[in-house]
Amino acid sequence: MSVPVTGRAAADAGESAWHAAWLPPAVFRALGSRGVLVHGDGPLVDTVIDEVSRACARYGGRLWHGPPWQVDADLVLALREAGPVPNAAAEAVRLGATPAVNGTGDGSLGDEGYLLARADGVTVVLADAPAGLLYGMFHVVRLGPAAFDDDLPARRHRPALDRRMLDHWDNVAVHPVSGQVERGYAGGSLFWRDGAARHEPARLRDYGRLLAACGVNAICVNNVNVHDTEARLLTDRLGDVAEIAEVLRPYGIRVHLSVTFAAPVVLGGLPTADPLDERVRAWWAAATRRVYQRIPDFGGYLVKADSEGRPGPFAYGRDHADGANLLAGALAPHGGVVRWRAFVYDHRQDWRDRSTDRARAAHDHFAPLDGRFADNVIVQVKFGPIDFQAREPVSPVLAAMPATRLAVEVQATQEYTGQQRHVCYLGPWWSEVLGFRPRGAAGGTIADVAAGRAGTGGGGLAAVANVGDDPFWTGHPLAQANLYAFGRLAWDPRLDPAAILDEWIDLTWVPVTAGDPDPVRRTMHAIMDDSWRTYERYTAPLGVGFMVRPGHHYGPDVDGYEYTPWGTYHFADRDGVGVDRTRATGTGFTGQYPPPWSEVYESRERCPDELLLFFHHVPYRHVLQDGRTVIQHIYDTHFAGVEEVAAMRERWRLLAGAVDPAVHDRVAERLDEQFRSAVEWRDQINTYFFRKSGVPDAHGRRIY
Ligand code: GCU
Repeated sequence: MSVPVTGRAAADAGESAWHAAWLPPAVFRALGSRGVLVHGDGPLVDTVIDEVSRACARYGGRLWHGPPWQVDADLVLALREAGPVPNAAAEAVRLGATPAVNGTGDGSLGDEGYLLARADGVTVVLADAPAGLLYGMFHVVRLGPAAFDDDLPARRHRPALDRRMLDHWDNVAVHPVSGQVERGYAGGSLFWRDGAARHEPARLRDYGRLLAACGVNAICVNNVNVHDTEARLLTDRLGDVAEIAEVLRPYGIRVHLSVTFAAPVVLGGLPTADPLDERVRAWWAAATRRVYQRIPDFGGYLVKADSEGRPGPFAYGRDHADGANLLAGALAPHGGVVRWRAFVYDHRQDWRDRSTDRARAAHDHFAPLDGRFADNVIVQVKFGPIDFQAREPVSPVLAAMPATRLAVEVQATQEYTGQQRHVCYLGPWWSEVLGFRPRGAAGGTIADVAAGRAGTGGGGLAAVANVGDDPFWTGHPLAQANLYAFGRLAWDPRLDPAAILDEWIDLTWVPVTAGDPDPVRRTMHAIMDDSWRTYERYTAPLGVGFMVRPGHHYGPDVDGYEYTPWGTYHFADRDGVGVDRTRATGTGFTGQYPPPWSEVYESRERCPDELLLFFHHVPYRHVLQDGRTVIQHIYDTHFAGVEEVAAMRERWRLLAGAVDPAVHDRVAERLDEQFRSAVEWRDQINTYFFRKSGVPDAHGRRIY
């Protein structure tokens, strides 16, 4: 039997308190057992050298960083500008690079791109900038022995999105309600503990390494809800941020900071934070200058303003463009950006008021401002109009602001998708969102929106991070795949999520004895490929969403939010269920979409089944496109979802002895909880709708 295990240690030394995740030393075997020539200089090149030399020390390979040079390398990693490479085959690739890189154009590889090619027995990675060399090296690691196959095709690789960012919702001080990490399901923060910085560079460095290996190049180190202690990261606690930046810099990761819009008042002692006030502008300019003095490659600010009680420009009669442009002005001289969140809605609604629709809010606020934002403002838009539900339509804001740089925000932390107690591989969901064409088949995709127009750059992709100080990084070991998939999809949104999963499996679940690793791969796919849809089946049906316990958002509570001020309702009564968001009879939300979706969503008949209850209030006996009634669909999917979880759990059991026991136990324990929770979801949802509708299950299954 093969015995695939995950790597135990992050450091080559062997033991450490945390798990290696997707870079155990063994995955460097192919690279580390060869002759490797690194050509170029600079801090990120030093990182490449460090990685290669550790791999070579472990697996018997050789590293040259010349001169003096040997010329019989199997792998050459070179910066083109570093000059000729003293290896005939690699030099031929270098000289021929322009046509090989791209038949037309200037042949540039950009700041992060690289050419990977093979000639006369030598594998060559060429880059124009050190980050490209780093990403190219990790590509070689990913390929393993295949990187040295003679039929390796020559290909240029460049990220589709320039900005690939993780937003940590980490608090410095433990918050009485949201804790150390808001919506964190993986233990404490990697950066902060009990009011202070952790100062643990070894773990942070490993984190940076994991991120670089999947393509992430930016992080925000604190929660978008900026409380008192965290506000001071901008000023007297800036040294802590600089320290994090220092550790992550060698992996090409730029640090960002969430700031409070009220900073000039709470930190600067000014009587106002009015964006048009000169004193306020001067305060931001000076504070930002100090940030860049400490952190020259600082990325910029992330701002949640006038949202869920956070301060913002509305208090001064100004709008979001005024607010964002204020910070943009302070950042512009230093090359920074402000990422201004579009998650703005009325969270003090009256449930009796049928005219207010939370889904409409971001578009109502932001679409009219298109064209008014400064060039270094990125408006960061949650992928759906509500809030990271397991199913929502794509936000219409993403199709409504062609003159604005837009970033798409997804949630790797599984607030609404099982909180890292349930297996829910989100790659397929994100891939669906990124591939959505808001203007129909002939128009561009959401990934194109995030990429922006040539020349101006877009806002890229951001994810709320799912990592903490848990030994397995993400609480549920299989949730690591979400982090990995996020980075890879941000690099190339067209990647197939199942293929990404294969990469992650290969990089993480390394066989330690000769044998067939396929049982592990098959099990992972069987459990994970469809796990998002499984989760959707046993939770909220047909796009209705938000049937979770208020506050912590775990587990079912059909009416939990129905009569609260947050504004997310299912409107179930004895006759039917769903939210009428049509123009004809509802809130008019469908009108925020361009055609064809404005028409498709408006129509009960054409609206995709999985979103029907998001857009329409329909009778329980309404027949879906799949031929079933709504009520029967609810029963069937909830029974099916639980059966699927039972099967997952059984599959995992069979892997006992074949994977690292610590990982096996952790996953097994989570699957037990997932099963328990799925049963609870099934029974509460089915019972609720059976009692409301009085319609029995066609198959006579047990409903309470
Ligand atoms: C959700 C989440 C909050 C978070 C908010 C946001 O509502 O529950 O914890 O602050 O999103 O994205 O700002």
